[in-house]
Amino acid sequence: MNILIIGSGGRESAFAYKLSKSPRLRQLFIAPGNAGTSQYGQNVNLKVTDFEGIAAFALANAVDMIVVGPEEPLVKGIHDYFLTREDVKHIPVIGPQQQGAQLEGSKDFSKEFMSRHNIPTASYRSFDRSNLEEGLAYLETQKLPIVLKADGLAAGKGVLICETLEDAKSELKAMIADAKFGEASSVVVIEEFLKGIELSVFVLTDGSAYKVLPSAKDYKRIGEGDTGLNTGGMGSISPVPFADEAFLAKVEQRIIKPTIGGLKEDGIPYKGFIFIGLMNVDGEPYVIEYNVRMGDPETESVLPRIESDLVDLLEGVAKGDLESRTYTVSPKTAVTVVLVSGGYPGDYESGKEISNMENVEDSIVFHAGTKEVDGKVVTAGGRVLAVTTLQDNLFDALQQATADAGRIFFERKYFRKDIGFDLI
Ligand code: AMP
Ligand code: GLY
Repeated sequence: MNILIIGSGGRESAFAYKLSKSPRLRQLFIAPGNAGTSQYGQNVNLKVTDFEGIAAFALANAVDMIVVGPEEPLVKGIHDYFLTREDVKHIPVIGPQQQGAQLEGSKDFSKEFMSRHNIPTASYRSFDRSNLEEGLAYLETQKLPIVLKADGLAAGKGVLICETLEDAKSELKAMIADAKFGEASSVVVIEEFLKGIELSVFVLTDGSAYKVLPSAKDYKRIGEGDTGLNTGGMGSISPVPFADEAFLAKVEQRIIKPTIGGLKEDGIPYKGFIFIGLMNVDGEPYVIEYNVRMGDPETESVLPRIESDLVDLLEGVAKGDLESRTYTVSPKTAVTVVLVSGGYPGDYESGKEISNMENVEDSIVFHAGTKEVDGKVVTAGGRVLAVTTLQDNLFDALQQATADAGRIFFERKYFRKDIGFDLI
């Protein structure tokens, strides 16, 4: 089978790594990929939203399946584009159509979906320009802290946790009246603050059957001890020790089943991954958000734990017979530590030469923001590399990943040395 992966980050590197191991794979393409994905397949210089270019490439190279990494092309309708073109509609796209992608593309849509299907989540109300005054009055009736969420995609920055009423009111005005996050904040969801510990659960579905993939925990803050600014993710671990069998059974019963059932009931076709961001509140799961893709850097911890052939599962999604496919997961613990450019998530410099990657023996080095210039691998983004190790127990995995992250060099490299240590 010839497979084309869309995307260029650590997540897509992990997909490329895993798919390249399949005996079913003939050719692997990654568009646009990075300096590391070329060890698993052929990089293709195409933008993730260049649907026409992607379709032309897929036709010319007899691509049998397209795996979409990031949300942007999904929310913009890459799957719909393929379905509406006679000459490419036979090529399955893994990732939902636009309607299903609204689960991530619109917070208001996803909150309405959860409320319609009795899926536990924080209580909420949505406001826009027409009822901003009502929104300000609503804030006065709510407990603090309170959460404000821009309805649309805001590059991961659209969620504000406000500690005071004054702050909440001025932020609500800034979001709606002054377009703080552009069009994305023309509608704002105000929701209850949930106190607990977060984790991510991943589901693969063909729209009817589903497989629950390994769960993971992501470390979002830049600083050790979960301090400082939010980032795309500084590390991850899988499995999550506090997500035991009893907790995951609640997640499946109360959240996964009604989510898949709800999509079906609402007539929303869905073939792809669902990433459920959860808060564990005193042992009870609540949905914080849905994403319509895998997480980054969670994928780097999740996929290496899947022992079975991922191509087989994806084919089950494409053909609609996922039910009959089996899969197994390694009991080992995966830990991923992300190496970032100094200054990230603020301004940072790129073009720094990366060395000593070959000294890492007991971890996989997934490239994220890298590129090749004159035969050298240089930094080309905030998150540069994701170092993942798989070990028999959590403690060994934490030590190995942290040690291996330290073995690689580039100017102003930074990484957190405490990923996962809070869970021992
Ligand atoms: P989101 O973009 O929806 O993932 O939100 C970003 C982050 O804000 C989440 O990962 C949580 O840490 C936090 N967050 C979002 N909603 C809530 C909530 N209702 N209660 C507490 N924290 C929240
Ligand atoms: N790691 C969080 C995300 O991928 O959105």
